[in-house]
Parts: sequence; structure tokens; C-alpha cells
Amino acid sequence: METIAVHAGRKIDKSTGAVAPPLYLTSTYERGADGKWPLGYTYAREEQPNRESLEKCLAALEGGTEGLAFGSGLAVVAAALQGMEPGDHMLFPDDVYHGLRKTIGDVFAKSKLETTFVDMTDTDAIQNAVRPNTRLIWVETPSNPMLKLCDLTAIAGIARKANAISIADNTFATPVLQRPLDFGIDMVMHSTTKYIGGHSDVVGGALITRHDNYLFERARKFQKYGGAVPSAFDCWLLRRSIDTLPLRVRQQSANALAIARWLQGQDAVDRVHYPGLPEHPRHDLACRQMSGGFGGMLSFQVKGAKPEAMAVVARAKLFTRATSLGGTHSLIEHRASVEGPKSRTPQNLIRLSAGIENAADLIADLEQALRS
Ligand SMILES: Cc1ncc(COP(=O)(O)O)c(C=O)c1O
Repeated sequence: METIAVHAGRKIDKSTGAVAPPLYLTSTYERGADGKWPLGYTYAREEQPNRESLEKCLAALEGGTEGLAFGSGLAVVAAALQGMEPGDHMLFPDDVYHGLRKTIGDVFAKSKLETTFVDMTDTDAIQNAVRPNTRLIWVETPSNPMLKLCDLTAIAGIARKANAISIADNTFATPVLQRPLDFGIDMVMHSTTKYIGGHSDVVGGALITRHDNYLFERARKFQKYGGAVPSAFDCWLLRRSIDTLPLRVRQQSANALAIARWLQGQDAVDRVHYPGLPEHPRHDLACRQMSGGFGGMLSFQVKGAKPEAMAVVARAKLFTRATSLGGTHSLIEHRASVEGPKSRTPQNLIRLSAGIENAADLIADLEQALRS
């Protein structure tokens, strides 16, 4: 993984010998006198070297055959949904990332798609929710923000039997800790805004496939001809960030585990949600599906309600109060108030994104924040 992260999709620039990849800030490419494009590049929406480098690297990291980079994680969702036919049925987790519900409700409301939100931790419930017209099963594991786990092998099997495509949102785990394609899932999506970018300075998304399929081909058309492309600079930044992805994610996972263990012993804390804790209801599944750590994301419920949770967040000093996740610096968030009035997240829940700082410093900050 470390070697792939450094080398995949990268080559020495032939014209200068530059070791770091050049940033290709060109929208168009010269044609030969014969009208052809001698190097295969025509126009940057269609072919872009920095995007190609990122896509190759992401496909290699996830163990897929091909990858597509998009301008955001939600652009990947849009790329997948626009590939559905009217009357198709789709299954999503009942605690799916809240922005995805907005894409379905606000962007695809008129598309005559049938949608069921189901408890993806319950394999029987997923099987029972499948209909003859089910064409897409979407899974997010660990989930946001409750850190619930779904059985990737079982879900891939249900999708295959139903002739549906399975897509796993692997944003939280990253390929460093979990590779859904290895468990038979058809495609993986990322908000590359998060761990892949890792420094809170890029918004992006990616779709990676294990094999040729119609939904991936439609997503490719949406990228090129729907115009959902990321900028050259964003691709360059993302590819550069991936060099350190395994190092960052392992440090973030170690910090999250240390914080989760410490939070468990605190009087002011009611519950801690982290797959790396033996008390997590699917810790055994986490050990089977994830390796090298359990991720940098955790959440906990304080004793009390929204005011008590908001007060803890307000007192944080080292943790930055902000939404998003996966950066080198730790973030803290009262999740329900970000998700809005339809949020199903408990009002006393605080979500943490562990950064790469010293774990003892992070715990000391939480200790003073929990002290009322
Ligand atoms: C798990 C997950 N998936 C998808 C997204 C959407 O990605 P983006 O914000 O890059 O559009 C997010 C954003 O927070 C996320 O947390």
C-alpha cells in the first residue's frame, strides 16, 4: 500500500526530468498538420494528465481496474444516479451521509427513481427490501456519524443475486484500512475532500470500479460530457497528498483509538462509537473487514442533551469547530445541528475527526472541554 501510494500513476517528466509531476495548466492541446492529436490529448475536459495520474493511483489503491475523478463527492453520487433508468429502485443506508439524501431529494426528485432507506447493518432487512427492479445498493461503512458497520461480503452477494450494482462509500476507512472491492463490491466512491486530500484544502470525489459495467460507463460520460471534472490543480494536490495517505491514516487511527478508550472512562460521557473498541456491536466484523486500524473518525454521546453537547464543543481549543473530516488537524462537531431539522443523529452526539497531532494533547483538550 505504501509503495502504491508513492508510485502509482506517477512518472518522471520525459521533457525535463522533473521528479515532481508538472501541473498541466492547459485547456487545449496542439493538433498536427494532419488534424490529429499526436499525443492523444485533445481538450482538458476530456483528457488531463494530472487527472489521469490521480485516477490511476486511486484505482491501484482500491484494487480496481479504473477510476474517475470528479469535482466533489456529491458529483460522484450525481454521476451514479443519473445512470439509473426511470422506475429503477435503489437501496441506501438509513443513516447515509445526509448530503446524499439532499442529492436524491433536491436534484433527482423528478427522475422517477424509487428509493428505500434500510438498516444496512441488518442483512435480512436488506434482503427483504430488494425488489425485482432494484438496480443499486449503496453502502457506507463505517457510517457517518454513528460509525455503524455493514457486512460488505453479504451485501455484495445480495446485489449480485438481484442483478444490482453495489457501491461502497469508502471515505471513512480509505483503502489503507479497507478495500471493499476485495469483498466483491462492484464500485467504490470517495469524497476525496477527506482523507485522500488530507489537508482540508481540496474538494473532490472519485469512483473506482472492479470491472466494466454500464453504470461506470454512464458515470464516465457524465464526467466528460456532463462536465463534472475537477481542476488540474486539485488533481495535482490530491495525487501529492496520497504519498502520505498510509502514514496519515495510521496515525489518525491510533489517535482515534486512544481518544475512544479514554472517553469510555469519563463520567460525563454516556456512549462512545468507535469500531476499534471491543464494545462496538460489530467489532468482530471490523476485525474481519478492516486491517491496520479502525479509522480516524469517532463519535460520542455526552450525558445530557443538545446544550450539554454544544457546551463541550464550545470549550474545545485544540480541536477546531468545523464540519468535514480527514485532515491533519483534529475537528470537533455537534453533528445534528449541521445535518438540519430532519437529522436522525442524537442531539447529545459529538463527532470527532482525529488529526495527526500528539494524542495526549488531544485528550488533554477533551478533558478540559468535558469539565463543566
Ligand atoms: C461519507 C461521505 N460521503 C460523501 C460526502 C460528500 O462529499 P463532498 O462534500 O466532497 O461532496 C461526504 C461529505 O462530508 C461524506 O462525509
